[in-house]
Amino acid sequence: MTTAREMDNEIDWSSLTFDYTPADINLRCHYSDGKWGEIEATRSQEVALPIAATCLQYGQEVFEGLKIFCGKDGKVRAFRMADNARRIKESAEALIMEPVPEEMFCEMVKKIVKLNARFIPPYGTGASLYIRPLQLGISPQIAVRHSTEFVFIMMASPVGPYFREGFCPTPICVTRRFDRVAPCGTGRWKVGGNYAYSLTAGKMAHDLGYSSVLYLDPREKRFLDECGPANFFAIKGNTYITPKSDSILPSITNMSFMQLARDMGLTVEQRQILLDELDEVDEAAACGTAAVASPISRIDDLDTGRSFVISPDNTPGPITTELYHRLRAIQYGEAADIHGWTTVIDLD
Ligand code: PLP
Ligand code: COI
Repeated sequence: MTTAREMDNEIDWSSLTFDYTPADINLRCHYSDGKWGEIEATRSQEVALPIAATCLQYGQEVFEGLKIFCGKDGKVRAFRMADNARRIKESAEALIMEPVPEEMFCEMVKKIVKLNARFIPPYGTGASLYIRPLQLGISPQIAVRHSTEFVFIMMASPVGPYFREGFCPTPICVTRRFDRVAPCGTGRWKVGGNYAYSLTAGKMAHDLGYSSVLYLDPREKRFLDECGPANFFAIKGNTYITPKSDSILPSITNMSFMQLARDMGLTVEQRQILLDELDEVDEAAACGTAAVASPISRIDDLDTGRSFVISPDNTPGPITTELYHRLRAIQYGEAADIHGWTTVIDLD
């Protein structure tokens, strides 16, 4: 981990990866006695918790991820922050946690950006400021019981591409050995616990040379679900296809690509996708805030030995490329934000 002090005046913005580079200030807000307290700003990178806190004992934790961009016009923009505010509320409610009011969420995003302005990567570097909001249940419990007290934290880190390769196709794998989540489980919410076992599956995939695991639906293991920390989409002729499943996170990036695909005249189908259908697709990618659109070169089924080659020449497909550039252009203020996805943050 690089400390903020070491980074003073010497961040090599264009070489940033998705490693954590702590910004100067993070924010906290406590909920107790039925109300949220004052928003506190701190330089501390530590959180003091009761050892019996439910987040530590029973994983009562939810989080989010969103990005801030410095535009061509010098303006600083948050991308679809109200959607992240809504989603963390839904995740919290799913785990019987007090939802953070959307206005408070957005106010804290603006505040953390202002307080860490020097960490916003300059336009042209391809980097952004990643904001990680998280909410913890902090009431001490030894019985399996939910908290009535919470802390909502917001931290920030400048980041580059999630996959080291950037916008370049990588191979991924399918395996039935691991499920990301259970049927009727927490897959559609951003719950920290969903990622715990994915560490094991992800390490196995990395060790075998894959950038991630493409999970199958946990009920039948016939349909595509999602790609580790990102959704999955494919292009089949003039159609954008993406899985419909109640065990995947409703990705804000995927929703944006679906809209951009419609804008480009493509048909959009959000439906169950059989693994076998991968034989018929022209392009495929993982998509998410961190991953943006990460093209997929090949999908190997580790259990059957079958390989679906998506990009034989290892180049990103034309439609994925166009979608990627359209999204980035809106995020960096290079194209008109006709869907009203960005919020300009005043740094004064
Ligand atoms: N799926 C999972 C499991 C994720 O963790 C993420 C990241 O947030 C996504 C999909 C992509 O969602 P979004 O585009 O809202 O970042
Ligand atoms: C994101 O895309 O924002 C994520 O949260 C994915 C991952 C880093 C958990």
